[in-house]
Amino acid sequence: MSCLRCSDVSRVRSLMRYALISDIHANLPALEAVLAHIDARSDVDATYHLGDLVGYAPWPNETVALLQQRAIPGVAGNYDSTVAADYEHCGCRYEDPRQEELSHVSYAWTRAHVSPDTKCFLGGLPFRVDLRPLGGHASGPTVFLLHGNQVLNTVYVFEERPDAFLEKMRDALGARAGDVVAFGHTHKPWHRVVDGVSFVNTGSVGRPKDGNPKAGYVLLDVDHDGTRAEIVRVAYDIERAARAILASDLPDDFADYLRTGGRMAHADAQG
Ligand SMILES: [Fe+2]
Repeated sequence: MSCLRCSDVSRVRSLMRYALISDIHANLPALEAVLAHIDARSDVDATYHLGDLVGYAPWPNETVALLQQRAIPGVAGNYDSTVAADYEHCGCRYEDPRQEELSHVSYAWTRAHVSPDTKCFLGGLPFRVDLRPLGGHASGPTVFLLHGNQVLNTVYVFEERPDAFLEKMRDALGARAGDVVAFGHTHKPWHRVVDGVSFVNTGSVGRPKDGNPKAGYVLLDVDHDGTRAEIVRVAYDIERAARAILASDLPDDFADYLRTGGRMAHADAQG
C-alpha cells in the first residue's frame, strides 16, 4: 500500500490517519474484509496490528502470511507470545469451566498447526511500538501501541477501569496530554480521554465479544490540534469462518461465538 502522505501532493494537511487492527485470531475472512474496507477508503496513511493474530479459528498461517505480504507491523498479543514460547497456556482468563476447556483445545490446536515460519514471526513481534505521527524531530504527540497494558500483554484494560487505573498507565508510559495509548485484548472497543490522554481499545477483527458480530477496527486521526478515534465495524462472511471452524477439529462452539459476537451461552472467556 502506498503512503498517501508521500504520494498525494495535492492533499495539503498535517494529519496522519492510522488504521489499528487487533485480535484477528486467525479469522482470515474477517481480516480480508477489514483490509478491503481500509483499502477502499484510500485515506489511511498506515495500518498497524495490536496482536493476537492466532487462536480460535483455522487460519493462523494464512493470517500471518497476509500481514507479512501487506507489511503490516504491530505488537505481540498474549496468544502470539505464548504460542511462540511454547508456554503452558495462552494467558487468557476464563470465567467458567466450559470456556476454559474450549480455550485449552484452541490453544493446543493452534500450537499444533502453526508453521515454523509463523511461530518465528510471532516470536519476533515487539511488545510495544511507539509512533510519532508528526515526526520525532519536533515536539508532538506519541501514539503508544500495546496489546494489554504497559507491563503485560495479558492484562485486560476494560472500559470499566477507573480513571486511577488509566492514570497509572499514563505515568508508567510517560504519556502526556495529547498522546494516545492504544491496546486491544478485551475484544470490546471503547475510547476515553483522561487528563488529555486518549485511551483507545481497538476491539477485535476476528472475535468480537460485545454482541456485535461484525469485524472491528479503529481509525485514529492525529493532528497538531488533537486526536480523534472512530470505531468502525465491517460486515464479513461469518458463515465462511463458521464452516471452516466446523470442518476443523476446533470446538464447534467457536462458530456460534462468531455468529453472536460472543453473546452465546457460556461465552465468558477473555481472549
Ligand atoms: Fe485476543
